[in-house]
Amino acid sequence: MKIFWLSLLLAKSLPSSAATYSRDVAPILDRHCVQCHRAGEVGPFPLDTYEAARKHARQIALAASTRFMPPFKPVPPSLTFHRERRMSSIEIRTLQAWASTGAPRGIKTSIPSRPAAPPPPPSETWRMLSPYDLPADGPDQYRCFVIPTQLKDARYIDAFEFLPGNRRVVHHALMFFDLSGAARKLDAESDGPGYPCFGTPGFLPTSSLGGWSPGNGLLQMPPGTAIKAPAGADLVFQIHYHFTGKPESDTSAVAVRYSEKPPQKKLLDIPLTSKAIDIPAGQSRYEVTDYFELPVDITLWQIIPHAHFIAREVRAWATPPGGLRKPLLTITDWDFNWQDIYQLKTPLHLKAGTLLEMQVRYDNSDANARNPNRPPQRVLWGPGTTDEMAGVHFNVTVDNEARDLEDLTHSLWGKMIRAIRQR
Ligand code: HEC
Repeated sequence: MKIFWLSLLLAKSLPSSAATYSRDVAPILDRHCVQCHRAGEVGPFPLDTYEAARKHARQIALAASTRFMPPFKPVPPSLTFHRERRMSSIEIRTLQAWASTGAPRGIKTSIPSRPAAPPPPPSETWRMLSPYDLPADGPDQYRCFVIPTQLKDARYIDAFEFLPGNRRVVHHALMFFDLSGAARKLDAESDGPGYPCFGTPGFLPTSSLGGWSPGNGLLQMPPGTAIKAPAGADLVFQIHYHFTGKPESDTSAVAVRYSEKPPQKKLLDIPLTSKAIDIPAGQSRYEVTDYFELPVDITLWQIIPHAHFIAREVRAWATPPGGLRKPLLTITDWDFNWQDIYQLKTPLHLKAGTLLEMQVRYDNSDANARNPNRPPQRVLWGPGTTDEMAGVHFNVTVDNEARDLEDLTHSLWGKMIRAIRQR
């Protein structure tokens, strides 16, 4: 009888009190957190030792249970993407149980395995010309740097990796090519290396080389496609910096891999965007939409959403002719700080006649903790910190280029002209 009661007691208490750092928690932190939460990385504190993890046990449990961490914004229903950062509910419950029982160490085991080192970046690099010095603190900065590529001939890039010089301060980065000289001019007019540039880089880029946020390594272009680096172009980094409480310095670079052959396929951008944004102060639910009907068969490779601070939800769908509306991307806690390129795990074929749709919802009330205006102000479309934007970009290839490429580019021009007329 005694044994019966004892085993019942044990069985009841096992799931919570049994969680220890050594056996249960360290492997979870290693798998989902340590890549960013260790010395020299972007996370605000390390989580790679027992002492560090114990100190933050409650914060860890809270960040995990609210799914604030690990940072990955798409939620179901969405397509499946490369590099998804998501914890299972069992893992989250384990972290909660561990924190609520005093964060025990458990029996000291061998040092847990650390994530394997990523493959080395390609050898061709373009680096910022001089280090950029940041003060100890202040509001986050968005700064653009101009790097002359000195390319005599156009080259094609089929993979690239942004290499943050100082991972403690580089929050995210976007890269553009500029042939107009406009970025150089902005740089010359501004003190110190680079120039301030929130939202847009301040010029109309010739093309884009994509973006980077922590956790992203080498970005591979869809097979057969490449990004053209035009002869004589400047590369422009648009970097979002945050502060550490100490003066810091950064010299970032990008490593690129040239493709041996010219691209066989063109990667096109279908931008679903809207400038019809005028959000009254205090309005908690404001919606912006756009759509495009595919004139030809395409393959969808990646989705890139973009909005600023008061956006809360971003959605995208595809409805095939005569079919059901299929959710592609759902973000219900939009965070300007975690802009990502969502590369589809399995490319998606979409037939001519498919309707692509996007919707962005904004909360311009006091209740939105990310609202930069206290009290709330009327918010219009624009590239500035306190303006808003609404965009979901679909990067696609045309299945039969010889027959259909022109049709698609024609329709995209038509869409753009309609948007200009409407304003
Ligand atoms: C891809 C990088 C990355 C990963 C992976 C990551 N973090 Fe973070 N974490 C950050 C950054 C950056 C911040 C600073 C806040 C921000 O920028 O959103 C942060 C902030 C935090 C905070 C502070 C939250 C607050 O109160 O401000 C906690 C706690 C935390 N992370 C825990 C975790 C845990 C636990 C995991 C794993 C389950 C994890 N993080 C995975 C980058 C990461």
